Amino acid sequence: MRILVTGGAGFIGSHLIDRLMADGNEVICLDNFYTGHKGNILKWLEHPYFELIRHDITEPIRLEIDQIYHLACPASPVHYQYNPVKTVKTNVIGTLNMLGLAKRVKARFLLASTSEVYGDPEVHPQVEEYWGNVNPIGIRSCYDEGKRIAETLTFDYHRQNDVDIRVARIFNTYGPRMLENDGRVVSNLVVQALRDIPLTVYGDGSQTRSFCYVSDLVEGLMRLMSGDHIGPVNLGNPDEYTILELANSVQKLVNPKVEIKFQSLPQDDPRRRRPDITRAKTWLNWQPTVALQEGLKLTVEDFRSRINRNQQSLVIGH
Ligand SMILES: NC(=O)c1ccc[n+]([C@@H]2O[C@H](COP(=O)([O-])OP(=O)(O)OC[C@H]3O[C@@H](n4cnc5c(N)ncnc54)[C@H](O)[C@@H]3O)[C@@H](O)[C@H]2O)c1
Repeated sequence: MRILVTGGAGFIGSHLIDRLMADGNEVICLDNFYTGHKGNILKWLEHPYFELIRHDITEPIRLEIDQIYHLACPASPVHYQYNPVKTVKTNVIGTLNMLGLAKRVKARFLLASTSEVYGDPEVHPQVEEYWGNVNPIGIRSCYDEGKRIAETLTFDYHRQNDVDIRVARIFNTYGPRMLENDGRVVSNLVVQALRDIPLTVYGDGSQTRSFCYVSDLVEGLMRLMSGDHIGPVNLGNPDEYTILELANSVQKLVNPKVEIKFQSLPQDDPRRRRPDITRAKTWLNWQPTVALQEGLKLTVEDFRSRINRNQQSLVIGH
């Protein structure tokens, strides 16, 4: 199978590529390195079944492939709000280009959508039938509405052009290779704890999130791609934690002496987020297997080794 992964040098994309390569597929990774890094795919660069193309998906491209995992899009608020118009272009023009490619070569197309399509949800936990509560003009809208139109385009290419589609709605995912500076809650807290900086908790920390370890998520994406259901399917961990509970876990695991500092809530920050994964369970026979404590440990080890490496290279002047 020849498989295209857009955004393959990013956090989830590179873990997905590890699995696809290990299964003996030919993989093409397409990335503009906005938030992705060559280091994430370094081990495959010399492999004969692997190809890396530096390309921005807002420009069309012609390739011969059997499947497309369409992940290219900055995922953390810091990065998608840096250039919101570009985020919209990536979601709209980029997704159009990739759907056009899927149509031309009759490739199966999987969209990495997001729980953000539910906005600040009034239904809890979130089921796929729920249409969401999204602010169309807020600072998160470039991403939330961008992903909503990406879903619309995907379903319209399916209805109008018979493109074989799959849509995954991904909930908070964490693990090794997350960026240190991406402002996401897990990376924020872990990096602060490792650097002995007070842990930032927004509001009173009673807002909830669910956290899915990246290997579980990748398994879910691959099952969705190879199964018969087009979706949308929620993929995430239904265990719900308050942000304060998460901060306490990180504190205990990394640095029991570090303080917790409370700050005001950012605009449009959802109060509660938890997937209903009944569809994923029944359609894909999938559910997360890695517990938060276990996943956090692996994530902390990765951040610790990266921070140590950076400090060493600073000391020896690189
Ligand atoms: N990580 C999560 O918790 C989460 C949750 C919901 C949805 N998702 C979705 O999963 C996908 C991957 O997320 P991630 O966490 O790995 O983020 P990431 O930022 O690590 O990866 C995104 C990748 O896309 C690339 N990219 C961005 N714009 C591009 C463009 N115009 N052309 C080519 N490449 C481009 C980036 O360089 C990066 O390598 C995204 O579509 C995101 O919306 C992630």
